[in-house]
Amino acid sequence: MDKVKMEAIFSDSARGMKPSPIRELMPYIKKPGVISFAGGNPDPNIFPVAEFAEGASVIRKNGADVLQYGATDGYEPLKTFIANWMAPRMGRVTAPDEILISTGSQQGTDLLCSTLINPGDYIIVEDPTYPGAIHTMRNRGANFLTVPCDSDGMKVGLLPEIIENCRNSGGAVKFIYCIVNFQNPSGCTLSTERRRQLLQIAGKYDLIVFEDDPYGHLRYDGVHKPAMFSMDADERVIYACSFSKILAPGARVAWIVGHRDIINKMVMIKQGIDLCTSVVAQALVAQYCLDGYLDGFLPRIVDHYRKKRDGMAAAFKKYLPSFVEYDVPEGGFFFWLRLPGVDTRKLFEKAVERGVAFVHGRAFYANEGGGEDRLRACFTFAKEEELEEGARRLRDAIMDLS
Ligand SMILES: Cc1ncc(COP(=O)(O)O)c(C=O)c1O
Repeated sequence: MDKVKMEAIFSDSARGMKPSPIRELMPYIKKPGVISFAGGNPDPNIFPVAEFAEGASVIRKNGADVLQYGATDGYEPLKTFIANWMAPRMGRVTAPDEILISTGSQQGTDLLCSTLINPGDYIIVEDPTYPGAIHTMRNRGANFLTVPCDSDGMKVGLLPEIIENCRNSGGAVKFIYCIVNFQNPSGCTLSTERRRQLLQIAGKYDLIVFEDDPYGHLRYDGVHKPAMFSMDADERVIYACSFSKILAPGARVAWIVGHRDIINKMVMIKQGIDLCTSVVAQALVAQYCLDGYLDGFLPRIVDHYRKKRDGMAAAFKKYLPSFVEYDVPEGGFFFWLRLPGVDTRKLFEKAVERGVAFVHGRAFYANEGGGEDRLRACFTFAKEEELEEGARRLRDAIMDLS
């Protein structure tokens, strides 16, 4: 018997698939002694292990439900908690048929793409943006239109021309993807005025807006900006949030809220993928939240991450050459550095030799080109006492290249 000819059996989309640029860096990052500013991971030392484990009582109490297959749209007590807990941000208590619990926000993005995207359709994304979203969108056959960002987020004033040019050349634009708060990777937040403008433009061109907000609860300075979902009179905003950054990414529990017709299609597609998100995971998260622990944990992680953000800012100020440009983010997980004239892929090799890792900027651009002199540094994962040493090693790596 002949061995399987792999190239012949793969689907077109599997054949065209590329590994995630961040996952490709993992073997280097995991080398012993390397300080990682790379992956966007929460600090494992602050996971609320004991309180989360207490939630296992729900299995004893309610095992008959929790160990059974669950509803595809999610575990009812968790959905009810989220609808009430998020009401101040959402502007109202959203209805059960407007919320879907997903296996991470990653799955929410995938389901939304399956619902809206035909191969060849266009999605408008920020330049730069989150590589995990690019990966999912590309898997569903999407093309990208990119909009640059500044310190106020996506430059939404450029949207009309971008949309019209695409439509004039026969392209179908389906939605605008925007990471509204403490964007991954740039750390910027979309200003309230731009949120308003973006909604107006989406209304004019009849587009869906996908408001991705995994970092919104992690604000270290200043005041929260209103969610676009709460400003939207047309029900065109789909809002996603996750327990990954505010509790534990290993739970793989997130939620997505929007027009019931869109959510209903996503539920049908999810049925064909995993029937439901792990009920055990949802029940543990729900119990943790209902016991009041989430509300106690959030201010603690905000304080903890603020200290780490300040630690990285101080270390960068002390060690990095003055030509390196960056803003100090008001929240989230990331610094976004520009090193004019430095190829950050080459710098990555030197940095790993020196014992520090980051993600080079190229990984964050949906289309060809961009980010060659940029890098993303995550401040949440490394230990507080490693931030200064990491910055010193980064400085040495920059010196190695010059
Ligand atoms: C902007 C953004 N959206 C979505 C996600 C995915 O989160 P989840 O762990 O809920 O799949 C991430 C994770 O880093 C992210 O940065």
